[in-house]
Amino acid sequence: MKEISKSTRNEIDMPLVGFGTYQLSVEQAEFCVSEALKAGFRHIDSAEGYQNEVGTGKGIKAAGISRDEIFVTTKLFPGFQQWGAPEKNYEQTIDTLKNQLTQLQLEYVDLYLIHAPLSVLRLEQWNALVELKKIGLTKHIGVSNYNEERITEILDAGLAKPEANQIEFHPICAQIDLTRYMKENSIVPIAYSSLAPLSTWRVEEGQGGEILAEIKEKCQMVTNEIATKLKVTEAKLLLRWGLQHGYSVLTKSSKPERIRENLNVFDFEIPDTYMERINQLNQNQAIAWAASGLNPMEVAPALK
Ligand SMILES: NC(=O)c1ccc[n+]([C@@H]2O[C@H](COP(=O)([O-])OP(=O)(O)OC[C@H]3O[C@@H](n4cnc5c(N)ncnc54)[C@H](OP(=O)(O)O)[C@@H]3O)[C@@H](O)[C@H]2O)c1
Repeated sequence: MKEISKSTRNEIDMPLVGFGTYQLSVEQAEFCVSEALKAGFRHIDSAEGYQNEVGTGKGIKAAGISRDEIFVTTKLFPGFQQWGAPEKNYEQTIDTLKNQLTQLQLEYVDLYLIHAPLSVLRLEQWNALVELKKIGLTKHIGVSNYNEERITEILDAGLAKPEANQIEFHPICAQIDLTRYMKENSIVPIAYSSLAPLSTWRVEEGQGGEILAEIKEKCQMVTNEIATKLKVTEAKLLLRWGLQHGYSVLTKSSKPERIRENLNVFDFEIPDTYMERINQLNQNQAIAWAASGLNPMEVAPALK
C-alpha cells in the first residue's frame, strides 16, 4: 500500500480526502467550505450543476488560506437532451469555466471535469478542456462517470488522455474492472459518495437517500461489526476503505463535527482480512444518481 497521510498528494497533486459540496445551499456552501478548510481539508470538489459556486468561492476566501495550498476541482455540466438542458459546444464550454471562475473568485482551478458523458458533443467539449488547460485556466483535466468505453472513445479520437475519472465508488458499487483499467492506464481514480451505504446518507427531505435503502442492510451489518472492532465510526471505515483501494475520496457534510470526523481517517488501518470481507459486499449497484432515475455511466447518446 502506498503512503496514506493527511499531507499525501496523488499524481496530480490532489490531497487524498476532498470536501464535496453537492446538496449544499449557497449559504451552507459558504459556511461548510470555510469550516472544512479550517478543519484541515485542502481539497474542495465543486460543480456547475450544484448551483452554489458563489457560496463555495466565498467560503474559500473566508478561510484565508493561500491559494496554492488548496486543490479545487469543478465540473462542466455538459447539457442533457432528456432533461431539456442545451448541450454545450466548444465555445460555450470555454465560457462556462470562465463564468465558474468568476463565481468561485479564482483565477484557475486545479482540475476541471466533464460531469458525465451526457452529450453527443462530448468530444468537442473534451477538446475545449484541452484548450482550457493550455491557456492555464485549469491545471489538470479529466472526466467523471466515464466507463471504459467512453474513455476509449477519447483515446480513439487521438485526443489527450483524461488525467482523472471521478466515479461512484463504495463497497456496494466497487467498479472492479473500471478501477483496474484506470490503474493500468494511469488515470487517477476519485471516489464520490463513499458514504452511500450508511443509513444516515442523504436523509433530509428531498435528498433522495431513501431510494435503494433496502439493498444496504447487509453492508451495514458488516461495516458496523468491523467499525466496532476497529473502534472507528462506519463513515471513517468507508472512507478509509476507498483510500486503501488507491482512490482519493470525497465527502460532504453540512455539520461541523462530521466535517472534522471525515478528515480524521489517517490514524488507523483496515487489516487485509477486513478489507476482503468488505470487498465481498459488492453488488455493482450505483446509488448516487438513483433519485434522478438514471445511471450517468450508462446513458451516453451515440456520437454523431
Ligand atoms: N461526479 C458526480 O457525478 C458526483 C456525484 C455525487 C457526488 N459527487 C461529489 O462527491 C461528493 C461526496 O458525495 P456525497 O455528496 O454523496 O457525500 P458523502 O460524503 O458520500 O455522503 C454525504 C451524506 O452522508 C452524511 N454524512 C456525512 N458525514 C457523515 C458522518 N460522519 N456520519 C454519518 N453521516 C454522514 C451527510 O449528511 P449531513 O450533510 O447531514 O452531515 C450526507 O447526507 C459530493 O458532495 C460531490 O462533491 C460527485
